[in-house]
Amino acid sequence: MNLRDASIIELPKIQDHRGNLSFLENSNQIPFEIARVYWIYDVPGGESRGSHAFYQTDEVIIALSGSFDVWLDDGKENRVYTLNRSYKYLFVPRMTYRKIDNFSTNSLALVVASKVFDPKEYIRDYDRFLRIKNGKEQ
Ligand code: TYD
Repeated sequence: MNLRDASIIELPKIQDHRGNLSFLENSNQIPFEIARVYWIYDVPGGESRGSHAFYQTDEVIIALSGSFDVWLDDGKENRVYTLNRSYKYLFVPRMTYRKIDNFSTNSLALVVASKVFDPKEYIRDYDRFLRIKNGKEQ
């Protein structure tokens, strides 16, 4: 996968005088079947999360509250996305190295994943990620 496949997508937003409501459904709104949902919260100031890629897991990341930056790298290009709207998500395709930082106070990152947790899915070392991307390692 390359960075061109990463994208910010708007979710439905139902607005009325009582406030806003957004949603996503299995295989609707997002480009895969949901296998897992996790969330990242109470991140101390200055901390970063992530710093890894996944072999086969696609993910959708939403800033349900507050804001943070998601750095994506496909081995050739890198780009940073600031997420700060609860009705938008960032699609992160498999084999994209990512880091999340610059968390605001009380921010809440919701992550929807296409696979259940499997430690063997992780590529944590960036140089190894590059070797795999370049076909020099598996
Ligand atoms: P990790 O994915 O390394 O965190 P981050 O990428 O945000 O820095 O996960 C941290 C720990 O939590 C690690 O021990 C694995 C565990 N974990 C699960 O057990 N299930 C999960 O779904 C996730 C995402 C992590």
